[in-house]
Amino acid sequence: MTTPRLFQSLTIRGVVMPNRIVLAPMCQYSAKDGFANDWHLVHLGRFAMGGFGCVMAEATAVEPEGRITHGDLGLWNDAQIAPLKQTSDFIRNRGVVPAIQIAHAGRKASMQRPWNGNGPLNESDLARGDQPWEIKAPSAIAVDAGYILPEELSKAEIEQLVIRFGEATARADAAGFDLVETHGAHGYLIASFLSPITNQRHDSYGGDRAGRMRFALEVARSMREKLPSHKALFFRVSSVDGAENGWSMADTVVLAAELRSIGVDVIDCSSGGLTGSSTTQNTKRGLGYQAPFAKETREVAGIPTMAVGLILDGPQAEKLLEEGSADLIAIGREALKNPHWGHDAAYSLGFDHDFGLWPEQSGWWLDKRAKAMNR
Ligand SMILES: Cc1cc2nc3c(=O)[nH]c(=O)nc-3n(C[C@H](O)[C@H](O)[C@H](O)COP(=O)(O)O)c2cc1C
Repeated sequence: MTTPRLFQSLTIRGVVMPNRIVLAPMCQYSAKDGFANDWHLVHLGRFAMGGFGCVMAEATAVEPEGRITHGDLGLWNDAQIAPLKQTSDFIRNRGVVPAIQIAHAGRKASMQRPWNGNGPLNESDLARGDQPWEIKAPSAIAVDAGYILPEELSKAEIEQLVIRFGEATARADAAGFDLVETHGAHGYLIASFLSPITNQRHDSYGGDRAGRMRFALEVARSMREKLPSHKALFFRVSSVDGAENGWSMADTVVLAAELRSIGVDVIDCSSGGLTGSSTTQNTKRGLGYQAPFAKETREVAGIPTMAVGLILDGPQAEKLLEEGSADLIAIGREALKNPHWGHDAAYSLGFDHDFGLWPEQSGWWLDKRAKAMNR
């Protein structure tokens, strides 16, 4: 049979993806002082054994103040490289591309872990030892009533943050990641510069679209400079804020074209998250609801894209590739439910019926069982 599109390899610069399935970045809120541990190795390792072509580690902060919660990963310190390298080595040794998302939470920093309330830190968090910290953002506008009011970043602080994104990228490279993604979505620092709702500056980092895009472009440039040219740089954008008079698709395609010209390889098309603590968007969600953003960005800006959001099975993912919606498919929550999502997708597309793509420690047995049952 012909290889389904989902299982055709893709080469980006020197990075060879064995298939089009990417594990979406998903915060585990399980680090201490930004350091990765066994949880991250086992959590991400599952997907490297589960048929994903690329496994992306969660939003990883460029400075302690840029963490969403006390449990976020960080790469602000050289000592944080080694424990992450253990994870990237495991992923690479499975023939899978190790990737990591680099982030700063901006005004959405200093929050509770989702399962502790997903809001601003309160008395019960303090009792656990989770102290709040001062937060900064493009403008002094809080996420909502009851949230910490951020201080407006000075120009000098903005320039320092651009450097920090570059430094964290250099550490990600040293930690063995072949693909780095800029977190420009969900209302965190970069996204809050992009949107006119959260960026009300009057200097060169605010105002019109070009001013509001300036920080994002400087960060992407700084990251590209620190990443060897054979490694890939992705950029995740909230294609639309989902808020009235906010960032729109017309803005996204302009940003995407600019990012392409400075060496970003793929736009990862998410949406929403500007207001409120979660990444929710104020528009209706259905299967593949963000894929139209990936399609439009790909067609108008002429840059490869990744589709994400309620993509549940192999045939659905295959259809999106067939329709030209995206070049890559990211799977988030469905992977939490089924870490072998990639292998199941292959099976459901009539591919890999001999379990040859599985780790041989499992595949050999599954094939033998299937043959015995068919006898
Ligand atoms: C537990 C969890 C943690 C997440 N953490 C991140 C993150 O670190 N960075 C990010 O850009 N998106 C994050 N997201 C959003 C996912 O990457 C993804 O875009 C979203 O879940 C939609 O895809 P899905 O329907 O396949 O889950 C997270 C989502 C979940 C469920």
